[in-house]
Amino acid sequence: MLLAGFRTGNGIPDGKTRFRALLYMNRKPHRPRSRVSSGEDTLEVSEESGGSPDPSPELGPPAQGYSHAPVLLDEVVSYVPAGARLLVDCTAGGGGHAAALLERFPEAELLALDRDPHAVATLQSRLESQGSRVVIRHSTFSRLPSHLMVESADFILADLGVSSPQLDQAARGFSFLSDGPLDMRMDPGSGGPTAADIVNTWPEQELCRLFMDLGEERFSGRIAQALVYSRDQRALRTSGELARVIHQAVPFKFHRRGRHPATKVFQALRIAVNEELEELSKLLESAPGMLRPGGRLAVISFHSLEDRKVKEAFRTWENPCVCPSEIPVCVCGLTPLGRRLTKKAVAPSAAEISTNPRSRSAHLRVFEKRPEAVPEERS
Ligand SMILES: C[S@@+](CC[C@H](N)C(=O)[O-])C[C@H]1O[C@@H](n2cnc3c(N)ncnc32)[C@H](O)[C@@H]1O
Repeated sequence: MLLAGFRTGNGIPDGKTRFRALLYMNRKPHRPRSRVSSGEDTLEVSEESGGSPDPSPELGPPAQGYSHAPVLLDEVVSYVPAGARLLVDCTAGGGGHAAALLERFPEAELLALDRDPHAVATLQSRLESQGSRVVIRHSTFSRLPSHLMVESADFILADLGVSSPQLDQAARGFSFLSDGPLDMRMDPGSGGPTAADIVNTWPEQELCRLFMDLGEERFSGRIAQALVYSRDQRALRTSGELARVIHQAVPFKFHRRGRHPATKVFQALRIAVNEELEELSKLLESAPGMLRPGGRLAVISFHSLEDRKVKEAFRTWENPCVCPSEIPVCVCGLTPLGRRLTKKAVAPSAAEISTNPRSRSAHLRVFEKRPEAVPEERS
């Protein structure tokens, strides 16, 4: 239900009411703290109440067993527009970016999304002290428009890819360095196919194309052939089994020091299992409409397929004109949505890479939606 239009006695929406008014949510008469509901999978950190935002209490550390260093943290915070009131973290993970944003902008409120239930539980415990400043949803960011009113957010962050706990916990099946069930779903309850379903059922040609398109793997054909041969003996069940087949399929002279030969295939499978590129396309379709005039979208990507999509979208938004170059004036009528604040992607510093090597491939791009047109003065 849409809570737009809730107002205080003087007709002016107060802080918390305004925040709630900008979100779509299932309103119940009494909202218990920390409620996880099925269906919409809503997890409320807060109770609903009026008044202005509480002063920022101490933010808790990430939950035990969840350790993820947020990348490009200072850079992300520096791109939040001054006076921002509604921040959206589409990939809140362990809450590293979210906590820094809440601390740096004590007047702002935050909508935090993540598709991983483990991350959502961590966010709940870490951000609990923030009360009604924070709303947490277990959701994919492709569904952002179902959580937020149009033109309501001042800042939207998407820190793409997987978190360190997802990579490090063998049971998630993301890593070729450990042996766990070959799952790779960021949301294991989604009911979607697992990596094991793909490697054990897809035809060889389709596996080959997948490894080529989403992994840019030069030995895609050999690897697909080896997988089909192996699964004909016995279905592949674990990340370790898959890694061993790939290790043997890639000619030894092409094994590179410091890089496991299964890296790209694991990346391709993860992207396919979680439909990561489709998710990103949907976010890029909806985000401009979710931003207020002057609001900003920041995207951190970790591989070229994602970064290319973001780069092209931002470029088109800045210059949407489709008129042939030989026409001297624009007749298509498409006007810029705003401007790129990062013509070149921002990369982590050498110091950040040395303390957090996983940040090395991060690329941050930021787009600013055009500020409201100033109405012409009447004479
Ligand atoms: C790189 S981590 C983000 C870490 C976070 N910024 C922090 O500071 O802890 C990426 C997170 O995005 C989540 N994620 C990836 N794709 C998603 C999607 N389409 N919708 C919602 N969450 C997604 C993952 O589950 C993971 O927790």
